[in-house]
Amino acid sequence: MYPLPTTPENILHYLIHLTMRTHTCGELRLTNVGEKVTLCGWVQKVRKFGGMTFIDLRDRYGITQLVFDQSVDADLCDAASKLGREFVIRINGEVRERSDKNPNLPTGNIELDSKSFDILNKSKTPPFTIEDDTDGGDDLRMKYRYLDLRRPMVQQNVIMRHTVAQEVRKYLADNNFLEIETPFLIKSTPEGARDFVVPSRMNPGNFYALPQSPQTFKQLLMVSGYDRYFQIVRCFRDEDLRADRQPEFTQIDCEMTFVTRDMVLATFEKLLRHIFKVVKNKDLGEIAHMSYDDAMRYYGNDKPDTRFDMRLVELNDVAKGKDFAIFNNAEMVLGICAKGAANYTRKQLDALTDWVKRPQIGAKGMVWVKCNEDGTYNATVKKFYDQDDLKKWADKMGAEPGDLMLILSGDTNKVRKQMSELRLKMGEDLGLRKADEFKALWVLDFPLLEWDEESNFWHACHHPFTRPRPGWEKIENWGDIKAEAYDLVLNGNEIAGGSIRIHERDLQEKMFDLLGMSKEEAETKFGFLMSAFEYGAPPHGGIAFGFDRLCAIMGGQESIRDFIAFPKNNSGRDTMIDAPSPIDDEQYEELAIAPALAETSGQ
Ligand code: AMO
Repeated sequence: MYPLPTTPENILHYLIHLTMRTHTCGELRLTNVGEKVTLCGWVQKVRKFGGMTFIDLRDRYGITQLVFDQSVDADLCDAASKLGREFVIRINGEVRERSDKNPNLPTGNIELDSKSFDILNKSKTPPFTIEDDTDGGDDLRMKYRYLDLRRPMVQQNVIMRHTVAQEVRKYLADNNFLEIETPFLIKSTPEGARDFVVPSRMNPGNFYALPQSPQTFKQLLMVSGYDRYFQIVRCFRDEDLRADRQPEFTQIDCEMTFVTRDMVLATFEKLLRHIFKVVKNKDLGEIAHMSYDDAMRYYGNDKPDTRFDMRLVELNDVAKGKDFAIFNNAEMVLGICAKGAANYTRKQLDALTDWVKRPQIGAKGMVWVKCNEDGTYNATVKKFYDQDDLKKWADKMGAEPGDLMLILSGDTNKVRKQMSELRLKMGEDLGLRKADEFKALWVLDFPLLEWDEESNFWHACHHPFTRPRPGWEKIENWGDIKAEAYDLVLNGNEIAGGSIRIHERDLQEKMFDLLGMSKEEAETKFGFLMSAFEYGAPPHGGIAFGFDRLCAIMGGQESIRDFIAFPKNNSGRDTMIDAPSPIDDEQYEELAIAPALAETSGQ
């Protein structure tokens, strides 16, 4: 325990002692040498070395080395060497300079000459090591998420998320956006996923839906004259999960009145650049604009990764008309040029061919052409194309000696998709997709509608509140109408999406009609919104960022899980608290829902 105060200096330390700790484990430096300090934290590692015991004491702020010397206090040293991993202790000691400094630790120049300690709580041996390079698998880490959250890497992610949230709040508030909360117990908002529903005890047989987004509410706030709204808000979508999707996730949701598309883009480009500057000290640069059509033509993808070029090149005019039936019969022949990859071995090229033939990619085969250093070409299709023919391909693709051309063919949409995957794989293999490099892109002019073969109705590409681009009335084929919609893409991931909205009742009715909704259904589901449009609804538009995705990409990762404190697993379960879980018969009764039905359909 701490010595009772006898001198003025001791009184000061005694008072500090009453506050539990004087410093954090990440704070002490050479300037503190000679100070008497008290630290609290978790025992990360105990090492014995001759007559000395060393302990790494960890808290959120860092790690400090504690030293116990057998020859100075044998009992204390003995007690310290018996401390288990993750014990919580409070330690008193004096800061001294280390003889063997650790340049990898911010506190690596000092250590604590330990005088006494208290065990604040014991710990069972944790089921995995609490280190960045842990021995715990995914399932185990999720079950003991509170231990996983102690790992410095996960803590850094959670802390970065906090910093981004604070900066977003600051930036938006400084730009006149008001933070306004919208309800969670609502009815369906159409964002393309299934709803999570909540039975209402007070209204038997009736259900709320959790919001897939606050879309309709933010539009109503514009009708109410709030001008600029934002919310860092949880959204709920019952959809298939992937690395970048969670059933509950967070949006930075925003809406503005009296704006054009370009005003919205400029506002949120500034926000993104501000976040990058403050959080990563990186200048993102101006964000390029690209139409949806160009994104599909040049990248085969509406969220192209533009950290590297390797554009898709259409080769129909130079590849067709010879005796190679596969190309002649294809709607589209597409190539990419992998710079400097002519040194791929036959084995690597065969593996690449097998890769594109996997069912997930679905290509029938792949043609490759190596551009030799002497200006000649080596190709799988030499029989059909002479050197002059291949030079024409190379010229179209900008291929130079040392480059590798890869060519796929088939139906235009399919082959674009396949080539997009191959491009990303080549980008990965050639080290062109660096986690610490960032490239953002606005994708614009999306089609308003897509024909849905299954339902035989048009389907809204973005959502049904999206405004068609001016001049839409004159376009005969609804599939050719473009939307006032935009996506923000970062390193090949969609991090935000939004649009200018419909604010007139008749246009909104027309849209619901096209989407196959009867007048009655539209009235039941969205009558409140259409009604609001009749009371002076101003022109408005907005955007929503996927906050978890933004944080994950800024952290150089594609999985959003480690940027969410308590995420769900791939089956939508929280294995730590064991949710979802059955409810009691009594609850079924109270909620006026049938247990038998629930059992057969989901449990
Ligand atoms: P959208 O559906 O495009 O638009 O969603 C906006 C952004 O949210 C992120 N996102 C997700 N992140 C994690 N898990 C999910 N399941 C998930 N689903 C979407 C994406 C996406 O870009 N109301 C409109 C926005 C608007 O029009 O203003 C909307 O929700 O990064």
